[in-house]
Amino acid sequence: MSEGILLEKLPRGTLLPEAERLARLETALPQIRAVLEGETDPVAAQATLACLLWETLVQCNWCGFYRVVAPGLLAVGPYQGSLGCLRIPFHKGVCGAAARTRQTQLVPDVHAFPGHIACDDASRSELVIPVIAGDELQAVLDLDSTHLGGFSAGEAALLQSLLGGWSGELDW
Ligand code: SME
Repeated sequence: MSEGILLEKLPRGTLLPEAERLARLETALPQIRAVLEGETDPVAAQATLACLLWETLVQCNWCGFYRVVAPGLLAVGPYQGSLGCLRIPFHKGVCGAAARTRQTQLVPDVHAFPGHIACDDASRSELVIPVIAGDELQAVLDLDSTHLGGFSAGEAALLQSLLGGWSGELDW
């Protein structure tokens, strides 16, 4: 499929009301799962997810993956958006907290998060979801928005189920 997924085109940076964001994500998820079906290569899967989640979550100014490349260390992976930090130790930032705790981090105001790493000064909120296969943390999905409260618990739950489903099959 070269056309991406079937969704209304919206300007980058649009923050829809939460109910509309959830409906948009629920429309996109089966299409994303269909595109990824059978894909076992982690770079192919992460790059495709970064692309399709970027199309879906138009409130994002950054959407992509940080991969575990050494004990306690993340390195940037496939992403869309402005330049991201290249490496993040587990003790730093929102991504580090997600990697360290293996818990989703939903941060409505990054300025209130101690140790937040400002790769892009315009970012105001963030959602980071761990990708775990078996017992191994493979990566984190990092989503940033220029809006305060750019992400909801409902979006986090839907994305967790997407990544949980795929991380079981993929050797990330
Ligand atoms: N803000 C993140 C760093 C990654 S970038 O924003 C792309 C953090 O605090 O982990």
